[in-house]
Amino acid sequence: MLKVAVIGMGNIGNTHAPVYQADPLSELVAVCDINRERADKAAQRYGVPAFYSVDDLLRNVQLDAVTVSSAGVENGGDHAEPTLQCLEAGLNVLCEKPISNDIEKAREMVRKADEKGVYFGINLNHRFVPPAAKAKQWVTEGRLGDLLLINMTMWIGNPNETSPWFHLRALHPHSLDIMRYFCGDVVRVHAFLNRAPGRITFSNAQVNLEFANGVVGHLTGSYDTNPRHNLERCEVMGTKGRFVLDNLYEELTLYPRDSEELTVIRNSIMGGLSGFTATFTNRIHRWLEQVSAGVPRDQLEASGHEGLAVQEIIEAAIKSHHSGRAETVHKMETVTA
Ligand SMILES: NC(=O)c1ccc[n+]([C@@H]2O[C@H](COP(=O)([O-])OP(=O)(O)OC[C@H]3O[C@@H](n4cnc5c(N)ncnc54)[C@H](O)[C@@H]3O)[C@@H](O)[C@H]2O)c1
Repeated sequence: MLKVAVIGMGNIGNTHAPVYQADPLSELVAVCDINRERADKAAQRYGVPAFYSVDDLLRNVQLDAVTVSSAGVENGGDHAEPTLQCLEAGLNVLCEKPISNDIEKAREMVRKADEKGVYFGINLNHRFVPPAAKAKQWVTEGRLGDLLLINMTMWIGNPNETSPWFHLRALHPHSLDIMRYFCGDVVRVHAFLNRAPGRITFSNAQVNLEFANGVVGHLTGSYDTNPRHNLERCEVMGTKGRFVLDNLYEELTLYPRDSEELTVIRNSIMGGLSGFTATFTNRIHRWLEQVSAGVPRDQLEASGHEGLAVQEIIEAAIKSHHSGRAETVHKMETVTA
């Protein structure tokens, strides 16, 4: 059983902590927040000791892994420091998305995990749902034939304003991760962005993507809609058919090219996912399973490398917005310990 602490006890830290308490593969042994009130409240709630700094936590508690669920600028500005501290201490780290809003820091985090040979995962929870696994199986089995194109939409209503790139950097790690999950690495990006009236952030994005395997893709993103209508939709087409994964896990449909018969998989009232929080439960359980089993580091799902890869696409999209041209996505050399 892995001994785990959660660092950053906001809404999301308080989503991770009960998952660790309930999972048979982990034991929640401490919580940490630089905000003492939040740390104390969480400590009381979970019946574990509170720490007010990562240094103090690491000095006093024997740990196998941590969640880093701090936030900061563009929801990722406070991730690097505690993550690097924990990686340096030899701990396995599951960090919230975005890995970091600062691409140089994100690269440093991934390099550090490689250097220390520990597991470093990112909470790209949207892909950890049974319908996405089924769709991936269809792709792997060749039910779609050779992949040709992908369309992805992810939109929510987020009125918060921090910076021009908040929407792209904070939301689209999720959508781009889903796109990479089905279609692989992205090599070039061409982005058009606008702002809703009065907004600082570029709250709407239309992004064309070229994948290494030749697939062409499109991402529509927004912070100006109502997610209760629809949060996300992913459509992948190949030579033999296409699938539509509607609203993350609500409905998956396979449309074969040579038949009128569709395969429809709906989220069942009996045993289906109970809500969005279940994506955290699934993702964290998979993280615990893989870390406990000691899988080869390059097989870790939604790894730091993958968290970095989506951030590199976002930075290329920002560059494209400035240049007006398609931009190449930076690819980091992989050094795996
Ligand atoms: N995966 C998802 O679906 C999903 C959904 C929403 C938010 N998020 C992510 O979750 C993260 C947290 O979001 P939130 O809304 O809970 O943020 P929040 O700001 O409410 O909470 C973050 C907490 O971290 C603490 N903190 C900051 N630096 C710290 C440090 N060095 N050591 C200890 N504590 C520190 C802060 O004091 C704060 O209490 C963000 O990165 C966000 O992008 C993920």
